[in-house]
Amino acid sequence: MEGMTENEPKEIVFPWTDAFLLGLPQMDETHREFVDLVNRLLTVDDKDFASCLDRFAEHTEQHFEEEREWMESTAFPPRECHIGEHQAVLKSVHEVQEYLRQGGDVDNGRRLARELTNWFPGHADYMDAALAQWISKQRTGGAPVVIRRGVQSSSRIPGEGQEGQP
Ligand SMILES: [Fe+2]
Ligand SMILES: [Fe+2]
Repeated sequence: MEGMTENEPKEIVFPWTDAFLLGLPQMDETHREFVDLVNRLLTVDDKDFASCLDRFAEHTEQHFEEEREWMESTAFPPRECHIGEHQAVLKSVHEVQEYLRQGGDVDNGRRLARELTNWFPGHADYMDAALAQWISKQRTGGAPVVIRRGVQSSSRIPGEGQEGQP
């Protein structure tokens, strides 16, 4: 996050709120960055908008790719729908990048940023939250077995009454 603090946004019009926290630190960190970049899109000077959008596009490609990998590797059931929503957002972002490259009006680019402020809370609350829960369930449902075994073999707590222990 070092790069994020070198130039503070002019003002906060799309603030981070802990209501966006989903309990998966890596995802939450990515979402903080997403919110920060959308805020920048809404507040940067016109002359910096296109480069800010390029940075946002780069973040978003990685953000969505990260989630796609999690969904594929854990066989998340509604992944097609979630991936489809990501693709629709990226398509709009790429279209606006191209539009600006051809000398398009920054005001139309800002419209995309405003739409993102409407899109993100619902997406996070519904699709990303479901994914975060799914991953947490997989991690806590699978990993603790290994941890518990390690604990039992190395330091058995006296009087804990482990069933099946010799
Ligand atoms: Fe996300
Ligand atoms: Fe997502």
